Amino acid sequence: MSDEFFSELKSASPIQDYLQYLHDKFKSINDGEVASYIPELATADPNWFGISIVTMDGHLYEVGDTRIPFTIQSISKPFVYGLALEDHGRTDVLNKIGVEPSGEAFNSISLRPETGQPFNPMINAGAIAATGLVEGHTPDLQFQRILDLFHHYTGHPVEVDERVYQSESSTGHRNRAIAYMLRNFDIIQDDPSPILENYFKQCSISVTGNDLAVIAGTLANAGINPLNGRRAIRSEYVENVLSIMGTCGMYDYAGEWIYRVGMPAKSGVAGGIVAVLPGQLGIGIYSPPLDPKGNSVRGIQTCHQLSMDFNLHMFNVPHSTQSVIRTSYWGSELGSDRVRPLEERLYLKKSASKILVYELQGDLNFSTAEIVVRKINESFKSFEFLVINLKRILHIDESACKLFLSLYLRMKGMNKTLIFSESSQHRLLQRIFKANMNDSFPTKLFIDSHAAALEVCENTLLLGHSGQYGGIREQVLAKHEFLADLSPDEMSIVEAMMKPQSFEKDQEIVAAGSIADEIFLLTSGTVTVCISLPDGRLNRLASFSAGVTFGELAMGGANKRSASVYADTEVECFTLSLEDLDQLEKDHPAIQCKLLRNVLRLTTNRLESANRSIGALL
Ligand code: DON
Repeated sequence: MSDEFFSELKSASPIQDYLQYLHDKFKSINDGEVASYIPELATADPNWFGISIVTMDGHLYEVGDTRIPFTIQSISKPFVYGLALEDHGRTDVLNKIGVEPSGEAFNSISLRPETGQPFNPMINAGAIAATGLVEGHTPDLQFQRILDLFHHYTGHPVEVDERVYQSESSTGHRNRAIAYMLRNFDIIQDDPSPILENYFKQCSISVTGNDLAVIAGTLANAGINPLNGRRAIRSEYVENVLSIMGTCGMYDYAGEWIYRVGMPAKSGVAGGIVAVLPGQLGIGIYSPPLDPKGNSVRGIQTCHQLSMDFNLHMFNVPHSTQSVIRTSYWGSELGSDRVRPLEERLYLKKSASKILVYELQGDLNFSTAEIVVRKINESFKSFEFLVINLKRILHIDESACKLFLSLYLRMKGMNKTLIFSESSQHRLLQRIFKANMNDSFPTKLFIDSHAAALEVCENTLLLGHSGQYGGIREQVLAKHEFLADLSPDEMSIVEAMMKPQSFEKDQEIVAAGSIADEIFLLTSGTVTVCISLPDGRLNRLASFSAGVTFGELAMGGANKRSASVYADTEVECFTLSLEDLDQLEKDHPAIQCKLLRNVLRLTTNRLESANRSIGALL
């Protein structure tokens, strides 16, 4: 971008400043002539010049004459062509109108000699034919559908500039000749006059430069108006409209336009230009003076500079600033947040390497999903469980969903388990899987919590190992690490201090902030540790299986509970009061020393596990 731009920064928005820079740079261009072959068009002020840009989330940037009404003229053509496609489908429309650039002027009286078919829908012949394809029982009803179409594209009702319409209808002899040529070749099969009048009216629809940006932005946004989220054209036809704009939209300047600017575009003899950067921007420019090819002189210069300065050429594919694979790791490197008894941890330390996790980010389309699937296939023999975390995925398109479906079907055939975690917002993925599996996909294919998805894999491994999980056979107290190294007599002394307790499913066992005056030894069921977020939601930190001790930091002097603990299931446990544990120091100091050493070991293990988790994510 030229340095002079940066010297002109005036507002908080660099985009707004840049548009002002463009406007200042090109407003003094005096080349070109205001169209006069339609007499009413000659009333336009040659100094009018407005630039408008709309983003995909509906933000409008504008500078200059962006709200002055003028007639849309040929800019209407690709959009009416899209309506004809919706009414008749590609095949029938292709039988009437070609899609080849003609390299000729917009008003050339040129049809394919053998069939009379217009070369494309952007030259007047093809556009008149397209207008004739718009469905409706009467010409008025057909035209009302065209008005409705531009209502959807602009986001507001539109109307015909009657003065321009009358001016064009009374002087449009060349177009009348073209219409009768089309009748002659049966491209138009009825009286061409009503169709021609509808074409003149469609060209006389009144718009502004801002409207053009919204219209372009709607195409850039896959057919959905970025201002109001309403669909203006079925997404399947957007690519056809854009490709016609890309190859034929600027008539015999189309080649140089795509070469220098690189965006599907359409110009109009009143001085409008729309340019579309798919998925990114809609651009609308209005300035009446035209070059000999019928395109706005300032509009062409502005689009060329904009494309050059911001590398907007559609073939200048932005490098993905980040890999779609955020991180990948094995379950033995980073497991669920379930705190498990030693015996389970030791087993999973070996076996959890059968769990492979991919955390993805950004957009999943064919090329990015292909990378993911290819990487997964490189480890295909090494895993039994695959968890794909979609938390940071912004969008998954249909091709990516189909690639994942093919991966799932291959895995299913080899008894491997696929789970998508944090996937609740990706409805298309779930729909495509359901549609291809007669609604019978496994309940655990989509699990919203990533930790829960990992737990499912771990518990399945433990089930396969011991026939049970959530404590390999309900841990008896002797296996609690908190009680490690106690002799049978010492164990008896400690057991005598314990109180049995039980809790119902979902019951709160410990409340955050409450006094930490007892330790819990879980003997059956599972519990979850949570903290309350500022907005009142509970955030899960970890879950504990039977055989695990919790609340032991009370022995280290933690006098308030730092988190709440809830029963996930019916829970049985024993508690040891801090008072009794303190009494041990007098009565049985050796026992207390062992218990404190065990608490230190427990805390160290959990810290090491947390460090491993952090390491696996770096
Ligand atoms: O049919 C015509 O001649 C006009 N209504 C539209 C021509 C036009 O906008 C050509 N585009 N640059």
